[in-house]
This record gives sequence, structure tokens and C-alpha cells, in this order.
Amino acid sequence: MSESPIQLGDYSRVVFFTGAGISAESGVPTYRGKGGIWKEYDYEQYACQDAFDRDPEAVWEFHNYRRQLVADCKPNTGHEIIAAVEQRGAQVTVVTQNIDGLHQRAGSERVLELHGSLWKVRDELSGFVKEQFDVPFQAQIDYAHWWRPDIVWFGDSLRGDVVREAVSAIESCDLFVSIGTSAVVYPAAELPYHARDRGAVCVEVNPEQTRLSSIYDHCIRATASDALRAMI
Ligand code: APR
Repeated sequence: MSESPIQLGDYSRVVFFTGAGISAESGVPTYRGKGGIWKEYDYEQYACQDAFDRDPEAVWEFHNYRRQLVADCKPNTGHEIIAAVEQRGAQVTVVTQNIDGLHQRAGSERVLELHGSLWKVRDELSGFVKEQFDVPFQAQIDYAHWWRPDIVWFGDSLRGDVVREAVSAIESCDLFVSIGTSAVVYPAAELPYHARDRGAVCVEVNPEQTRLSSIYDHCIRATASDALRAMI
């Protein structure tokens, strides 16, 4: 890919807003489009509070399947370039919709997980959250008491503190790079507007057009790794 109109070294406060597309090259299925996981699994059966209350065992069978799948994947060049930009000294914030933890495994330190993490579990009675990397994880505490996956399911609210921190970073950045999101899930899909309204240079990296493409200054129709290689 030829050099990009955007060179990351020209900016000092960068937000990378990422979706499932950045992990596609690591082998983690996206949610929609070709090979999307929601084409295979009905999220209302496996990824919402009602399903968990109704059949925690089935929800955990799906969740452990996803944990195993992701545990077998590695960060790709896209994750690694984002981590390198942070290590190079720019003020970088990763605001991710992903729950796979691949940004952290690539070395990114300032990562805001809007939709939680595959690698955290929550005790719904106490609210206690802990990191948990066993694959599979035996989630049943006792007869009717299970650890809950600490992820934001459809119908859940996002954590206010995480959203506030994300909005603060987005409203003070000079470069906002959206990578690999279809921009169809709210409230995350609203975040790019904050960057545009505050005058950041806004870039969309996605092989396909999205319903938000028109708000960006630059749309790079490429994969995450190809686009980031040309920007570094
Ligand atoms: N590089 C960049 N983008 C890619 C690549 C790639 N190699 N491969 C696919 N894409 C793009 C697709 O064109 C698509 O627009 O990534 C996007 C993935 O879209 P989704 O599967 O909808 O994922 P995402 O936008 O992250 O979903 C948002 O929906 O199901 C919920 O909570 C879940 O966080 C998720 C949210």
C-alpha cells in the first residue's frame, strides 16, 4: 500500500477507536458480515442477561468457546503498530469495543474497554470483578450462583466511568482513527461525532464503507495492518 495521507508521527494526542475488524487478521471472527459470529450464534440465546438468567450453563459454554478461540489467537501487526506508537511517546488512548484483550497483549497500556473483557468475570451478588484466564473456566460457584462474564451484553448499560474517560480522550485528541467497526452499535457508534465536533483529524480504516463514513476527513479502504503500516 502506498504512503498514507496521514502520518501518525505528525500527531501528539491520538485515539484509536477499534472494533472487531482489527482482530480479524488475528483469526478472531467479526460479529457481522462474512463469517460473522452472529450468523452462527443467536446472541439472544448466548449473550444477554435473560439468556444468562435462564441458562447460565449454555451461556458459559458459548463464552468458554470464545475464550478458547481468542486464547489461540495472537495480536497482529495492527495491534502491534498501535502499541508502538504509544511506546514512541505520543499520548495514545485505545477506545475499543473489542473484548479479546489483544491490544493489551500487543503492549498497549492505555486501553478503555467499552464492552468489557472476555478475561474478566463478575460476582453479581457483590459486584466483585476479577481477571480470569483459565480456559475453560469453571464458572459455577454453587447451585444457583455463577460468575457472570464481565462483558456488556445487548441491553446492558456501558460503565459510566469508562465512557466518561473515553469521551474526555476523544474530545482532546488531535487525531481520531476508527479501525474495523461497522458503527452500528450504540452508544459506541456515537463517539466519532465527539472527535469531529472538536476538530480532530478523523480517519476511518475499513475495507468497506460504513454508515458513518461521510463524517471522516479520510476513509482508507484497506485492512487494519496495511493501513497502519502506511501511516507509521
Ligand atoms: N481490517 C479492518 N476492518 C475490517 C477487517 C480488517 N482486516 N475485516 C473486517 N473489517 C471491518 C468490516 O468491514 C466491518 O465493518 O470490521 C467491521 C466489523 O464490524 P462488526 O463485526 O459489526 O464489529 P464491531 O463494529 O466491532 O461490532 C460492534 O457489536 O456485537 C456487538 O458488542 C459487539 O463490540 C461489538 C459491537
